[in-house]
Amino acid sequence: MADIALDVHISPERLLDDLRSDVRLGMTAAPKWISPKWFYDARGSELFEQITELPEYYPTRTERALIEAHAYDVAERTDAAILVELGSGSSEKTRLLLNAGIKHGSLRKYVPQDVSPTALEGAIEVIAREHPGLEIHGIVSDFTDTLQNLPADGSRTIAFLGGTLGNLIPEERALFLADIAQALIAGEFLLLGVGLVVEESVVVPAYDDAAGVTAQFNANVLSVLNERLNANFDPGQFEHVALWNSDAEWIEMRLRARTAQDIRIEDLDLDVHFDEGEELRTEISAKFRKEGIEAELVDAGFRVDEFWTDPESRFALILASRTSLGQRDDR
Ligand code: AVJ
Repeated sequence: MADIALDVHISPERLLDDLRSDVRLGMTAAPKWISPKWFYDARGSELFEQITELPEYYPTRTERALIEAHAYDVAERTDAAILVELGSGSSEKTRLLLNAGIKHGSLRKYVPQDVSPTALEGAIEVIAREHPGLEIHGIVSDFTDTLQNLPADGSRTIAFLGGTLGNLIPEERALFLADIAQALIAGEFLLLGVGLVVEESVVVPAYDDAAGVTAQFNANVLSVLNERLNANFDPGQFEHVALWNSDAEWIEMRLRARTAQDIRIEDLDLDVHFDEGEELRTEISAKFRKEGIEAELVDAGFRVDEFWTDPESRFALILASRTSLGQRDDR
């Protein structure tokens, strides 16, 4: 019988409070915004899975190929007993890392973290069946506040895959990387997957596919607000926009009001007006350059050990280790 635990560090009530305060802030700001973390209800997660299979959406399959090629290098290099995965979702790519760690002989424990208990339970079930000898310790939490509660009974690698780092605004990103570094001790590792800067003609279609799946994914966030906060958005009244911001080097997804409209968000007792053509920013997805992300990692307290990329340099899998003293600690 597999050794399984599930810690819940976030309650549905807390999550709802977070959604409320986030939405109030973003809907009363100019320009308006909402955090991409609210995309992922059951429908949003399903749409995201569909996105990963679109011909235009190269990140997932590119990262998977990098993990396939280098999972055993990661196992040898890290010699980790514990693999922590932040935002594990369906854990599909992780299984490659687990197989390699087990084959290498060092890996004993898998610690998947996700904000969704259902996603986590599903993944744990599949992995427990595949690896009956592996200890599994799931953590339900918001990834930005998980890092205090990590198991420490062996040397750890924290995986943060999928390019999700790019969804944080730069200030959040610096804090988050530093928090990961602080959670580790010298000689432990971060395995990071990030999208690289590519031609606009490649990156824009990845976020504005011909079949319109990303458009549905984007508009679904309005249905999340309708359901969870008793709002009355008509998602059909908003147009999907994906644009490349060449200064910031990130993709921005927006929802543009097709007509002027007045929205009621009942549970916030909030009325929100959109002018015709007004845009709500729903996501940034930053793309990185090698020197830039390496500097950010060093600044957070890491040394970059490996930087693997695909032949077209569209995605990077980076292995970094915690240095005994980060630059940040010297200041
Ligand atoms: C995989 C969560 C990082 O930014 O590419 C996909 C989500 N948004 N299409 C990304 C996403 C639009 C995404 N992450």
